[in-house]
Amino acid sequence: MMPKSLRILGAGKIGIQEGKKPQPNDHQILIKVVACGQNPLDVGVVGITANISEFADFYTGNTIGCDFAGIVESTGSLTTRFQPGDRVAGFVPGNLQDQGAFAEFLVTEEAFSARIPDDVSFEQAATIGVAASTAAISLYSHLNLPRRRKDPNPFKEFILVNGGSSAMGTMVIQIAKMSGAKVIALASSKNFGLVQSYGADKVFDYHDPNAVTLIKNYTDNALELVVNCVPTTETCRLICDCISPKGGKCVNLVQVDTSGAEFRKDVKFSLFMAFQVFNEAFVLGPELYAPSQELRELLADFWQEMDEDLLPKKLLKFHQLKIIQGGLEGVVESHRQMRDQRISGWKFVARISDTPGVTLLH
Ligand SMILES: NC(=O)c1ccc[n+]([C@@H]2O[C@H](COP(=O)([O-])OP(=O)(O)OC[C@H]3O[C@@H](n4cnc5c(N)ncnc54)[C@H](OP(=O)(O)O)[C@@H]3O)[C@@H](O)[C@H]2O)c1
Repeated sequence: MMPKSLRILGAGKIGIQEGKKPQPNDHQILIKVVACGQNPLDVGVVGITANISEFADFYTGNTIGCDFAGIVESTGSLTTRFQPGDRVAGFVPGNLQDQGAFAEFLVTEEAFSARIPDDVSFEQAATIGVAASTAAISLYSHLNLPRRRKDPNPFKEFILVNGGSSAMGTMVIQIAKMSGAKVIALASSKNFGLVQSYGADKVFDYHDPNAVTLIKNYTDNALELVVNCVPTTETCRLICDCISPKGGKCVNLVQVDTSGAEFRKDVKFSLFMAFQVFNEAFVLGPELYAPSQELRELLADFWQEMDEDLLPKKLLKFHQLKIIQGGLEGVVESHRQMRDQRISGWKFVARISDTPGVTLLH
């Protein structure tokens, strides 16, 4: 039987297809995927195909998903880090290109993968790929926090993480804490304990009308750095209100138009896509994103740290997860739940072997 993968099949449609097993080139590794994590981008790209017909043609045929955990089946002749049989996790430019994570097999570069320690499950490891990559780029490249391994001087500034209970938020909090930052976060009050368990020093409720005042008091009006994991016009406005009179920087993880007069000009908003580390330019909605050699090098170095240090020394705590019932077949329903904004403090993960007709042979 040919291996299965979950693909975009046309406007707003996804489904399981069979196809040839991919073959790694000299620089790639072939992974037998065991578990894969769902991200908002998976749902967003399918949504774009439903709403804009030219994008349906553009993305049709691409495999869904960016976060994988699996077993190395074979390695290209010029790869050096992994051996067949290694358990690894990482991220791939799924949805936008053919090699997605919701598949029995994928090929990927070894640079953005790390070995999974024996006592970590494939399901847990499938939660880290995009979130850790995006957190590292946000903090080290856009906000210039010191790298834990390279700069021993702790960074003593405040950083606000909006969306502290999101998959992105729990990763940003942990990596910012590793740099020594004083981390505050916004989340629903039911998730305060969860957000603090990832290291946030103080959490505020974004529903509380006094949140801005409380943050200004707590930071003594000295907040200058923000990672906005839930970027909307409203959250960008709230962030402007929290930032010090000296001005500041905010990384928005999705595009929001902040050019209007309602936004402070001394708050510099920036945006990037983690997929810019891969070698090809890509289109997402109306934007064309160019690859970035600088981000590529930064992230390859971060994944090496993940492999040598963060995962084996248990320095990262995984996001909570819920298993998608029915493996690849259950993804239509898990996409629906994400579209309906029913995710709070956990991530959907699929086990490939839960898919009817798929047997895990290892
Ligand atoms: N630029 C990139 O390369 C890149 C990479 C990865 C992700 N992203 C983007 O980052 C965003 C977050 O992704 P994710 O996987 O972390 O999402 P997620 O875990 O699915 O987000 C769910 C969380 O959003 C929180 N939330 C909802 N409305 C909020 C608000 N108004 N203020 C604060 N928090 C709110 C909820 O918090 P409560 O339940 O506590 O209310 C919930 O825990 C997505 O838009 C994604 O597309 C971008």
